[in-house]
Amino acid sequence: MFLAEANPLNASELIFPTLECIHIAGFAILVGTIAIVDFRLLGVGMRQQTSAELARDLGPWTLFGLVLMLFSGPLMFSSDPDMYYLNRSFQIKMALLLVAIIFNYTIHRRVALKGASPPKSKLVACVSMLLWVGVIFGGIFIAFI
Ligand code: HEM
Repeated sequence: MFLAEANPLNASELIFPTLECIHIAGFAILVGTIAIVDFRLLGVGMRQQTSAELARDLGPWTLFGLVLMLFSGPLMFSSDPDMYYLNRSFQIKMALLLVAIIFNYTIHRRVALKGASPPKSKLVACVSMLLWVGVIFGGIFIAFI
């Protein structure tokens, strides 16, 4: 049993909301940059650049967003792990997150950089968006389930 009271993160009421702000900023950068590439793969928006150029230019920002999430998320989790790991929404979010990260750095990256037939590009973009929206919903519903 992990004593949430003993956790220094719970020493001040300002730490958790500060982490949550970093968490929200992080997913805006992470999911925002991935969504720009997805819209390009769907053939809407940013047509002056290819999906490969966008994926290359935005890649470092996507990684920065992911680092912010993998820093702030576990810290928030540590504020009350017994509550979170039993939370169904948190469990679904973590499962979707693992699939979303693997998908992003394998199939999605290959299709964005090397190109694919329009139907395949659109399918990959839709799967990507559904996965990340699922992670976000999972995060938001943690507090309501
Ligand atoms: C990398 C992708 C991630 C995304 C897109 C994401 C998204 C979100 C969102 C949208 C929220 C709700 C924020 C709010 O309502 O204010 C949230 C909350 C949260 N996330 Fe994440 N998250 C990610 C990664 C993680 C990781 C890796 C962990 C922990 C291991 C984590 C733990 C949490 C916790 C504990 C909360 C707070 C729930 C609460 O008490 O309100 N997240 N996340």
